Amino acid sequence: MKPVRETLLNRRSIRRYERRELEPEQLLFIYDAIRNTPTSYNGQQFSVIALTDKERKTELSEIVGQKQIKTCALFLLFCADFHKLNMAASLEGMQSPRFQDTIDGYTVGVIDAALAMGNAIVATESMGLGSCCIGYTRTCNPKAIARFFALPKGVAVVCGLAIGFPNEMPDLKPKLPRDMVIFGDRYRPDEEGMKEELKAYNEEIIRFNKQRSEGATDNEWISHILDYHREAAKHKLEDALKAQDFRI
Ligand SMILES: Cc1cc2nc3c(=O)[nH]c(=O)nc-3n(C[C@H](O)[C@H](O)[C@H](O)COP(=O)(O)O)c2cc1C
Repeated sequence: MKPVRETLLNRRSIRRYERRELEPEQLLFIYDAIRNTPTSYNGQQFSVIALTDKERKTELSEIVGQKQIKTCALFLLFCADFHKLNMAASLEGMQSPRFQDTIDGYTVGVIDAALAMGNAIVATESMGLGSCCIGYTRTCNPKAIARFFALPKGVAVVCGLAIGFPNEMPDLKPKLPRDMVIFGDRYRPDEEGMKEELKAYNEEIIRFNKQRSEGATDNEWISHILDYHREAAKHKLEDALKAQDFRI
């Protein structure tokens, strides 16, 4: 088991995996780390669907268009889940207050599921395994994904996570400097200073990409992220959420 510091500071996304299954105790550790996630009200407003079957992973990989899903040993789908609590309410003959229809209710489900995914990533990394979040599982084709996983009403996809034995070790990506992420006391007031640091970080990413691709690409950070956002803004997830009975 790696020390916590190394586990957290040396993590990077791994997209190529050895064709090797996880040991049962590795699976159990990941699952127990997921179960012990802190959640709002201890309501545990999330569920995870685990996929190890080769054919199912191949089929899902084709729907999502991400081949890590096919080659990973374990694929986990993290969902916001109000179905279980709606069931619990009906067991007691009670009416659910429809928290899932509010922005805060949906956010609570997303936070719980995302924290569970974070726990899974740390557990995975600490055992020398690698992982890659797959957000396209939420956005690419919500109807097909809901059908594929037989999601009941009250369950919405948050993110997927591919896990496996690493078959690559890409360089750690440079991240924004500490004082662009963690502000002392109040939101950082010096916009000019922030702009300078953003510019410097953009340059750092250009250098990093150039070096990583041996000069083939010098992708910038800013325009690259804006392109992603431009595309992501086209996903109309409101309809997908409505179909899953989140009437926000
Ligand atoms: C919510 C979320 C969704 C992501 N979706 C994808 C994805 O669909 N495909 C992919 O290859 N990487 C995906 N990533 C991985 C990011 O690209 C990666 O974390 C980022 O580039 C930083 O690199 P690092 O993880 O190596 O530090 C996702 C990451 C997060 C947190």
